[in-house]
Amino acid sequence: MMLHIPEVLTPSQVARLRARLDAADWVDGRATVGSQGAQVKQNRQLPELSPLGRELGEVVLTALLAHPLFVSAALPLRNVPPLFNRYEGGEHYGLHIDSAVRTVPGTNLRLRTDLSCTLFLSEPDDYDGGELVVVDTYGTHEVKLPAGDLILYSSSSLHRVEPVTRGVRVCSFFWTQSMVRDDGHRQLLFELDQTIQKLRLRLGECEEVLNLTGHYHNLLRQWGEV
Ligand code: NI
Repeated sequence: MMLHIPEVLTPSQVARLRARLDAADWVDGRATVGSQGAQVKQNRQLPELSPLGRELGEVVLTALLAHPLFVSAALPLRNVPPLFNRYEGGEHYGLHIDSAVRTVPGTNLRLRTDLSCTLFLSEPDDYDGGELVVVDTYGTHEVKLPAGDLILYSSSSLHRVEPVTRGVRVCSFFWTQSMVRDDGHRQLLFELDQTIQKLRLRLGECEEVLNLTGHYHNLLRQWGEV
C-alpha cells in the first residue's frame, strides 16, 4: 500500500521544526544503515540519540498518532522514534530495502518494520530532485509532497531518493510495527473502516452500521497482535 496523509503538521509547526533543524549539527547518514544501505546512501541526519531529534520526533509522533487517517491505515502498535534527514548538493539515496527489524536506540526494544513513513519538511518548490521513488507490486511511484504531509508505504518495497540538485530537502522518517502484520489484511481493514465511517455520516448510528463495526472489530481481533 501507499497512502498520502495530508496536513500531519500545520505550516507553523513545520516552520518551528525547520528553524530548529536548520541550526542543528548534522552527521553522515550512513550511521543508521546496514552494509547494503551504506553503499548507496549519501545524505546527512541528526544523530539518533540527539536531544533535539528526540524532542522534534515527539512532536511528529504526537501529531501523527492523533491523525485519524494514519491510525486507520497503519493500525500502529509501536514506532521507531522519528529521525530527520537532509539532502543537498546532489546528495541522494540509491535503491535499497529497509531492514526488517530495528532496535529502538538506547533500549533493547526491537520492532518489525511493517510500514515506512516519510514526512516532508521542505516545500516542493524549494528544491529540485529529491523525489522518493517507491517500487512495489503495482509499479514505480514518485512522491514529492507539500511540507507537513506524509507518505506511508510498505517497508517491503524497494525505494530510493533522487539526487537533490538545487535547494535543500529536509524530511523526517521512521518505521511502524502494525498490529496487523499482513499488508492485505491491513488494507482490507482500512477500506472497511473508511466505508463504515462514510456510511455512519450518511445513515447515522443504525443497526447495519453497528453490525459492520462489529465485523471490523472481530476481524481486528482475528488478525491483530498487541
Ligand atoms: Ni529506506
